[in-house]
Amino acid sequence: MDAANPIDLEALRAEVQACRACPLCDGRIQTVFGDGNPAARVLVVGEAPGKNEDEQGIPFVGKAGQNLNRLLEIAGLEREDIFIANVLKCRPPGNRDPRPEEIQACAPFLRQQTRSINPEFIVTLGNFATKFILKTEVGITRLHGKLHQAGRFKVFPIYHPAAAIYDRSKMAALEDDFVTLGQLLGTVPQNPPAPAATEG
Ligand code: URA
Repeated sequence: MDAANPIDLEALRAEVQACRACPLCDGRIQTVFGDGNPAARVLVVGEAPGKNEDEQGIPFVGKAGQNLNRLLEIAGLEREDIFIANVLKCRPPGNRDPRPEEIQACAPFLRQQTRSINPEFIVTLGNFATKFILKTEVGITRLHGKLHQAGRFKVFPIYHPAAAIYDRSKMAALEDDFVTLGQLLGTVPQNPPAPAATEG
């Protein structure tokens, strides 16, 4: 954070709540600003709120969120350790993909959240978050599980946890990537000890 010009996350939350910069504001129950530790080492960035998130005002509380909680445990993390935000703060109707003009309208909020939290790592979940943070057109299939750099931030793209709900073959890659994330953070041992030999 720029000490001379600190960004107050709570003031930003109020700005997001009042936002009418794109038509998604007309369909929302509420905005979903983000949740977690405002001084987190890890900022996790998803795509956009779904139905449950729109109802509760908290990111990743539906099925994808349950999967994310389990995957965070694999990385030796709890939700309280990290901050979770989305590229879009309002739910797209029917959970359709975010549109470029919606991403553009919402972009200043994620940029300011990132500056305020000033994480060491940004974990991008899925294509939309990864393309936004890395400013790339390369897809998540090629980028996931490897460490990238965006300015001063280490960026670690991972498949979106919802992807594995529809395509079970992605679950192993997701779990492997969360182990790697934990190793990068030091919350998972590099070489897990071999299981103790059993007698007999
Ligand atoms: N998917 C997302 O990308 N974000 C959420 O908050 C929930 C589901």
